Amino acid sequence: MELEFWKERWQNQQIGFHRSDVNPYLSSFFQEICSSCRNVIVPLCGKSLDMIWLSEKGMEVAGVEISDLAVKSFFTENSLEYSVSRTEPFQVFKSGKITIYCGDFFQFKTELFDLIDCVYDRASLIALPKEMRKNYLKIMKGLKAGSEIMLVSMEYPEGEMNGPPFSVPEKEVFELYEEDFTVEKIKEFNVMEENPQFKNRGLSSMHEKIYWIRKNH
Ligand SMILES: C[S@@+](CC[C@H](N)C(=O)[O-])C[C@H]1O[C@@H](n2cnc3c(N)ncnc32)[C@H](O)[C@@H]1O
Repeated sequence: MELEFWKERWQNQQIGFHRSDVNPYLSSFFQEICSSCRNVIVPLCGKSLDMIWLSEKGMEVAGVEISDLAVKSFFTENSLEYSVSRTEPFQVFKSGKITIYCGDFFQFKTELFDLIDCVYDRASLIALPKEMRKNYLKIMKGLKAGSEIMLVSMEYPEGEMNGPPFSVPEKEVFELYEEDFTVEKIKEFNVMEENPQFKNRGLSSMHEKIYWIRKNH
């Protein structure tokens, strides 16, 4: 998707993807999947409260988000004082253990990954159309060996709905990651009933899948 598309969604508050609570998959699975991680990156982070949860578990958290409206909302809505600086090409917002890089994730430099040993991906890969998912992987390949990823992905019958969110079939997750990573599907949930908005958009089924992914070398 174009960056303007997302900025407009934030300006118009069309942010149905945002949860007003911590994602239950995070609290249920993160510590099992990423038990030894200390420095987590949250790509395409929006104003997700999951970043608060991660910081409260003692993690250093780095979010990346294109909309400065989303970033400022995150800090003000959570009553967090923040400082602003620049690490080109990003505007950098920081409060305690949470740093948000405001800018295009696809400009994220591999050097910044030196500080990272973990990725929490909820609604990031599935926010991207297929052709952009390969570019997303190019960035992920900059992770250090041993880095771990918790991926929450979504799957629905192709053609029943235009994304975002996009359906990213299990086969594609393995194809994208398996060259440089070990991939394991941890759990799968049928989430059709709790998502009537997607039923209204024409979906007949919807599954969310949790993956543990580890960088090999
Ligand atoms: C589907 S939302 C998910 C937000 C968050 N992960 C959550 O769980 O609430 C995708 C987010 O990615 C941001 N975004 C989209 N493309 C981006 C890019 N290239 N770089 C940085 N942020 C981007 C959008 O502004 C939006 O906030």
